[in-house]
Amino acid sequence: MANILDGTALSKEIRSEVAESALNLKALHNLTPGLAAVLVGDDPASAVYVRNKGRACDEVGIFSEIFRLPKDTSQQSVLALVDKLNKDPRFHGILVQLPLPEQINETTIIEHIDPAKDVDGIHPFNLGKLTQGIPEFIPGTPAGVQQLLIRNGYDPAGKHVVICGRSNIVGKPLATLLTQRSNGANATVTVCHTRTENISEFTKTADIVVAAIGQPKAITADMLKPGCIVIDVGINRVEDTSRKSGYRLIGDVDYENILPVCEAITPVPVGVGPMTIAMLLVNTVKAAEKSVT
Ligand code: GUN
Repeated sequence: MANILDGTALSKEIRSEVAESALNLKALHNLTPGLAAVLVGDDPASAVYVRNKGRACDEVGIFSEIFRLPKDTSQQSVLALVDKLNKDPRFHGILVQLPLPEQINETTIIEHIDPAKDVDGIHPFNLGKLTQGIPEFIPGTPAGVQQLLIRNGYDPAGKHVVICGRSNIVGKPLATLLTQRSNGANATVTVCHTRTENISEFTKTADIVVAAIGQPKAITADMLKPGCIVIDVGINRVEDTSRKSGYRLIGDVDYENILPVCEAITPVPVGVGPMTIAMLLVNTVKAAEKSVT
């Protein structure tokens, strides 16, 4: 039976480490780490994520505030808010929840965040530092995937990792992270995407498969090498009339059918999801620590 990689338990462990660091900051510098979360519009999934991030901050002693802006907010207004938050000493981290409404250029907004407060690690400065092997802030999901692997005893060193998906916040930075010459990395990485011909040819050779596609059950058991490790980054809403909400969350992999084939697998939504949040907290405390050292 496959080893189920429990993101909730592991994220608890990391959150307790963060809480201890926050206590130290308070004791040594009388400083409370602060996170500003910006939510533009009313995307229900984004609203849930931001609320969860705020709650997670409360639990570890990070002060947080959510700044909600209406769906039709102008780019100028978002830039003005980011400006204000860049200057506000209460906040060591700024998170602008993505995606943004279409009238707003995401790149412009991200580039406007002070890199020293970019706890999402998606400013070009921070992505550049990551590429150079001297990371300041590693984006939450890639960092969470790496921790899930190494803290469960699956060192990616020398392994073939196949990442399905090339987004700026998951696929590309994860490929960069796992190819580093450093502990918990040193993998051989292949990135597959929408224009990859015959993805199975690649996934079948993978020791570790990461699905970050955004399509329910896109990765099936026949696409995998028996004994591989499966990391499911997908969070897809599918209709489920038996639930009060009318939907349930499923990943990018065909979980039930893969379970008997793989060595280990992350469940959805309690695998990678809680790890992304935990690593955001890690980065926020790190940003606060950097502000006083
Ligand atoms: N949208 C989906 N995942 C993320 C994330 O990790 N950070 C931000 N800012 N937006 C997201």
